[in-house]
Amino acid sequence: MKKTIILTAAVLFSAVCFAQKTSDRPVYLDPNAPVEERVEDALSRMTLEEKVGMTTAQSKFSSRGVPRLGIPEVWHTDGPHGIRPEVLWDEWDQAGWTNDSCTAFPALVNLAATWDKEMSLLYGRSIGEEARYRKKDILLGPGINICRTPLNGRNFEYMGEDPYLAGQMVVPYIQGVQENGVAACVKHYAVNNQEFQRTQSNSVVDDRTLYEIYLPAFKAAVLEGNAWSIMGSYNLYNGQFNCHNKKLLVDILKGEWGFDGVVVSDWGGCRDSEEAILNGLDIEMGTWTNGLRGAASDSYRNYHMADPYLKGLREGKYTTKELDDKCRRILRLIFRTSMRPEPNYGRFVCPEHYQAARDISAAGVVLLKNDNNALPLNVPEGGKILLVGENVVKKMVVGGGSSNLKTAYEVNPLEGLQNAYGDKAEIVWARGYVGDTSTSYNMVDTGQDLTDDRSPKELIAEAVEAAKDADVVIFVGGLNKSAHQDNESTDRQQITLPYGQEDVILALAEVSKKLVVVNISGSAVAMPWAGEVDAIVQGWYGGTESGNALADVLTGKVNPSGRLPFTVPFRYEDGPIKTEAQYPGIKEEGDEYWQTHYSEGVYVGYRWYSSKKIKVQFPFGHGLSYTTFEYANAKADQPEMTAGQTLKVSVDVTNTGATDGAEVVQLYINDVKSTIDRPVKELKNFEKVYLKAGETKTVTFEIDAQDLSYFDADKHEWVAEPGKFKALIGSSSEDIRSTVNFKLN
Ligand code: BGC
Repeated sequence: MKKTIILTAAVLFSAVCFAQKTSDRPVYLDPNAPVEERVEDALSRMTLEEKVGMTTAQSKFSSRGVPRLGIPEVWHTDGPHGIRPEVLWDEWDQAGWTNDSCTAFPALVNLAATWDKEMSLLYGRSIGEEARYRKKDILLGPGINICRTPLNGRNFEYMGEDPYLAGQMVVPYIQGVQENGVAACVKHYAVNNQEFQRTQSNSVVDDRTLYEIYLPAFKAAVLEGNAWSIMGSYNLYNGQFNCHNKKLLVDILKGEWGFDGVVVSDWGGCRDSEEAILNGLDIEMGTWTNGLRGAASDSYRNYHMADPYLKGLREGKYTTKELDDKCRRILRLIFRTSMRPEPNYGRFVCPEHYQAARDISAAGVVLLKNDNNALPLNVPEGGKILLVGENVVKKMVVGGGSSNLKTAYEVNPLEGLQNAYGDKAEIVWARGYVGDTSTSYNMVDTGQDLTDDRSPKELIAEAVEAAKDADVVIFVGGLNKSAHQDNESTDRQQITLPYGQEDVILALAEVSKKLVVVNISGSAVAMPWAGEVDAIVQGWYGGTESGNALADVLTGKVNPSGRLPFTVPFRYEDGPIKTEAQYPGIKEEGDEYWQTHYSEGVYVGYRWYSSKKIKVQFPFGHGLSYTTFEYANAKADQPEMTAGQTLKVSVDVTNTGATDGAEVVQLYINDVKSTIDRPVKELKNFEKVYLKAGETKTVTFEIDAQDLSYFDADKHEWVAEPGKFKALIGSSSEDIRSTVNFKLN
């Protein structure tokens, strides 16, 4: 009895103490308090120095918290395809950890090619878990700059040429990442579409083009994805650097869209204190200012927004208005991430992530051409498969710039096919050509030795000889992630295949029973040899599971369902970029910067080719399957709509073949008569439908006035002009299966 009383008293006492403690606890430390209350409370406790401190880096990949208040520093990481290996505090060099080999997910262009929002969510969730496990608060990605030219070295990190596709695909990625308490940092905002002179080039873009082509994916990321951070790009727009560009950051991002997150500079992208302070930059990263290297004390204090900011505040040049706004945003991000109410540990290099990487990669592989059903592979037991090309063996996770990763393992196409066939087929590899023999990047080493001294003639002769008795020859080539290929800070120098690969393909075509070409690249490669080969597959940098994913599609384990997120033209000259002023830009004598004129306007990608009726090798949205699909009964639920209404357009899609598969049903809008010049079609919706053999599903799209609008730069608003429109429903931008007419009143 006595024992019970003592125990009860003890419990009561501790409950009172606990209640006391929680009520005394500052609001900002209460995980259950509303975020905005926590923000205001924390801000009210901070000194001027602490506030300024938060706005700059303290190491290569972290920015400051408020140690006195127990508010942690913010850890940033690349992004966007996996969690970057740790680097030294002040240097790009590797820190030499042995536990930072991540799951490499497919390149974002591979994700875009899935046209599958579920895949994007899976991607975001998986990479978000890896980031959380590694205790990162900001993931520097995804990238969504529009593929304006196939020559842009970073297209592989982005989501193709269409703003609607990129906008739809980016939203679930962000949501998946942020579910883990990790902020997505959407990059590179904005009109940053080339690597040539990326820190010295001014993009000259009219407002209509800006709003119709280059901003919509960012807008979706902010308004639909609720991205918690965004990265300013290196270039200038309208003569002002984008990391502190008033129009882009203050007027549009934080003004028109009401963005409540953090603007992070690209590494070294902040160039001026005053502009950075006044024009909406919140965290300055990577700046290489004088005295940073070898400074005796904390050299990050030399950043544009560090001591110069403090000095300006003390001298009355600035008020705390902007500073408080920056700190609110950073605190909000911290309360959404490292100090969020429901912490989790994340997961790293686990079977689920490997499977996700494989599924996403396979879902994005695009079957471009398949004559006489060359694919899926049909090799007799004990038959011979000849693989030719450097990309059969080259490990591709390494390289490319800041998206370079150290991965736990990487399956190349040779290993992928070996895994698929075991000893059921003889799998032989011939080099075919020597491209890029580098095997390490920023101290991440693949351990491969790709050197080969043989001449092109010898290499071709070897491949041709081996091809003669092969049941099938699979050439795996394309680009890689070295300079002037798919690579940050340099652009491609040609649209055709490099390293003499065309000669190899043509030589193989003469002797092979069946020739399949797999092109691995991040953007379009011209294919003048396309008519000479039986099948063409567009593959990507698939990450850790790349080779298995490719083998899944080649063998038919996975029925291909990827669609091109960009146009493959016959020739570079066919495209909208005609002058040096457009690309790569020009620098006149006396000019400080290169000027890149986006004078093609909204005619980017298929908008150009289809409006100008220029034939292309493979159109945007194209991709074959091992089955066939038929479209029927396309109709609208009403013949007319008014501006406030939505109109429903539906179509029945049937899998008419013998294999289960997925079709990407695409909706393009055509404004029949317009007072301004408009592209003949613009993608406004799509849906990937999975259909069993013989199955039919009805796909329904809703169309509203926004889908019919163009951006009127003079009025600064979207305008839908009354009149006739067409809903073009098809399997690619050029393969329109049904047209539904309707009117906007
Ligand atoms: C790249 C960014 C990257 C940053 C940090 C920059 O050079 O442009 O995309 O996130 O470096 O590595």
